[in-house]
Amino acid sequence: MKRYAHITSCGMAVPERVFTNQDLEKMVDTTDEWIISRTGIHERHIASPQETTASLATAAALNALDPTPLDPDDVQLIIVASATPEHIFPATACIVQDNIGAVNAGAFDLSAACTGFIFAVNMAAQAIRSGSIDNAIVIGSETLSKIVNWEDRNTCVLFGDGAGAFVLQASEIPGGVLSCVMRSDGSGGDLLSVPAGGSQMPTTMETVAHNLHTIQMNGREVFRFATREMAAATREAVAIAQLQLDDINLIVPHQANRRIIETAARSLRVPMDRIIMNIDRYGNTSTASIPIAVCEAMDEGRIQSEDNLVLVGFGAGLTWGAMVIRCVETEVYVAPTRRARRRFLFVLARLRSFVRRVLRKLEGLIWSTSSKK
Ligand code: ACO
Repeated sequence: MKRYAHITSCGMAVPERVFTNQDLEKMVDTTDEWIISRTGIHERHIASPQETTASLATAAALNALDPTPLDPDDVQLIIVASATPEHIFPATACIVQDNIGAVNAGAFDLSAACTGFIFAVNMAAQAIRSGSIDNAIVIGSETLSKIVNWEDRNTCVLFGDGAGAFVLQASEIPGGVLSCVMRSDGSGGDLLSVPAGGSQMPTTMETVAHNLHTIQMNGREVFRFATREMAAATREAVAIAQLQLDDINLIVPHQANRRIIETAARSLRVPMDRIIMNIDRYGNTSTASIPIAVCEAMDEGRIQSEDNLVLVGFGAGLTWGAMVIRCVETEVYVAPTRRARRRFLFVLARLRSFVRRVLRKLEGLIWSTSSKK
């Protein structure tokens, strides 16, 4: 029997704190009018010191799992796509795995900047279709506010924090992820980067003093690249899915700039009422922008069963890609008591993690004492 990889649920989480354009006017030489006319952004959510990429990712994953029949120990794969991971290592996905008690899941991070979510969904879908797993959670999570230079008006007005997650499950019902185009061009790596903190430029007092751990961007070049490739990737993904653009009910583009999205829509000759846009309230949340936009569209009833969606993104690397998904109603009734039990399991997961850490320390102590004898 042929297997299909369906998106059966999605969830999102954003920090409570909101920065408006007026707040930014007090920090850098900018205006509300400039930001809205050049980007479409009115406000963005900004993480508190306690909120991190992993904590937002965990919250989004729990929200996505809630309506599904999956218990934490049923989850088989967790991928976190992020440009702002919790650490260089361990992977943010492993922290999420521990937080939710997904004791049987493999977990890893995927780095492809803003396109990372599309690439990660494609990896999970391929693993499901091949039969190696039956389900996966794919998360895009960011705390870009922590790598933005808050004195650079060229970049600090653009970005926001948040997380979005999809649950993917195997099914014999045709639909789900129908096609994916994945592209990259490393020769454009310098157009958008965080130069320091890796093996080429390890952290020093100088790299910190010169702000080399923050986002550096050639906005105009990124703009040109994005408008060109978003339309081309969309056309290609639609053709691979053996559909026409008219068969596509909604396009969910990466939310980087309203003008980029409008230019791509014009080039595709798709009316704006078939494009999802929420950049005004979130800014550019990188890997999280597409799943957050899908979650909101679902909640607003804009996505119906049998709808064909295109997810399309671009980002640092350079990377870009597009994916066609057929949404098919696969909802399974999950009794409220089961959901309540599962929420209790999530609390137990934190306790389990704590106990394992204590036991590991004790085992280490016992082992070192006995090996000295
Ligand atoms: N407020 C006021 N003026 C500003 C601001 C600001 N916040 N930022 C820049 N300006 C000024 C510039 O200094 C420039 O002044 P100058 O002409 O005196 O030099 C002027 O505004 C115009 O600058 P442009 O670069 O021409 O402005 P543009 O219309 O291209 O808009 C923007 C700039 C919004 C950055 C746009 O180029 C853009 O969105 N590019 C794509 C960026 C992007 O999507 N990045 C994320 C990629 S995804 C990822 O991987 C994270």
